[in-house]
Amino acid sequence: MYSKKLTDNIKGELENLKSAGKLKVEREIEGLQGPEVSIAGKSVLMFGSNNYLGLANHPEIMKAAEQSLKTHGYGLSSVRFISGTQTIHRELEQKLAAFLGVEDAILYSTNFMANLGFFASIVNEGFGATEWKDAIYSDALNHASIIDAFKLCNRERLEKRIYPHKDLAALRAMLDEDKAKDIRNKIIVTDGVFSMEGDTADLAALVGIADEYGALLFVDDAHAVGVLGATGSGTPEYCGVHGRIDVLSGTFGKALGGAIGGYIAGKKELTEFLRQKSRTYMFSNSVPPVVVDASMRALELLKEDPTILTRARDNAAYFRAGLEKLGFEVLSGSHPIVPLMLGDAKKTQEMSKQLLAEGLYVVGLWFPVVPEGAARLRFQISAAHTHEHLDRALAIVEKVGKSMGVIN
Ligand SMILES: Cc1ncc(COP(=O)(O)O)c(C=O)c1O
Repeated sequence: MYSKKLTDNIKGELENLKSAGKLKVEREIEGLQGPEVSIAGKSVLMFGSNNYLGLANHPEIMKAAEQSLKTHGYGLSSVRFISGTQTIHRELEQKLAAFLGVEDAILYSTNFMANLGFFASIVNEGFGATEWKDAIYSDALNHASIIDAFKLCNRERLEKRIYPHKDLAALRAMLDEDKAKDIRNKIIVTDGVFSMEGDTADLAALVGIADEYGALLFVDDAHAVGVLGATGSGTPEYCGVHGRIDVLSGTFGKALGGAIGGYIAGKKELTEFLRQKSRTYMFSNSVPPVVVDASMRALELLKEDPTILTRARDNAAYFRAGLEKLGFEVLSGSHPIVPLMLGDAKKTQEMSKQLLAEGLYVVGLWFPVVPEGAARLRFQISAAHTHEHLDRALAIVEKVGKSMGVIN
């Protein structure tokens, strides 16, 4: 049994979080995820989920999962290289690669694991050398999984540079400064869409910079795959550089079905290398077959019914315009992440609480998740929302916004 001291420390830290208003509360959904969910016996509008395409419980996705359960079972009880690879795993990897416009893909249990696996595999590998140093240039607002990925890299082998959010002049200055140094690999890493802002990295410019400096460009497209671009293949397509990103990572846990599962996509030698060297791939179970088959169905659905994509976009534009018309300050953009800026953390917490009491679920974000003084409500719009849902949500935000004095 662990010591009383550790027990007291843990309890003390939980108390600290509570008194600082930072304790995360997990609201329990009774039943399915969707545009409306049941919480504590009450139906509420869901505007706080990454279910951008409404596929989380789409009948076609559920049918594919049910069918897969019958043909491929529940689990493999193994990692890929021991006895955990079914034909459908390779099939999904190949279909995904074709969708993303790259040579190959490798599945991971999550996008988080994919990011952890990639950086350590490259940076820690000597390729026969005894001395080397790699440099990583990372946007300041990149996801936690990228930040944690650096922690798995051998410290002596990694120069870590953080450039201010989307500040490409600063990135260039860092690359220029490193020109005289003996750096083996330069890796530029960015989210495609930044989850707190809903804004997009300028991938066309980043491809140019990567080419100019001989750097590898890594894009984590978790929030954009299945959402942005003409066919929904993500930020590269949206920015006109489809197929030109060296390495992509992404997830099946958001737009593409919403269950779990991640990937790295890029050149074939890279995916082969990761199959041999990436510890979060080699020593962790393969993705469950129901998820694999349902993910393939999600990719098919995008092709069969492009209105899913346009509906998500139209709904986001409609909701964004609605909030602006009411007088709220909203961050501009074209992604279904719609941040309503409030600034103050306490006001954000209070407004999120009141909205839920009125039947609208939306997540509030404040420091340290976003910069101090930039607290916000993050609305996430879905293709599954109807105009009735959107109008009802706008009416609730208007009522609460007026009663709290946020708008007149
Ligand atoms: C940019 C980004 N990368 C990675 C992840 C992790 O995805 P997963 O849930 O598949 O591990 C997220 C999820 O929040 C994300 O927003």
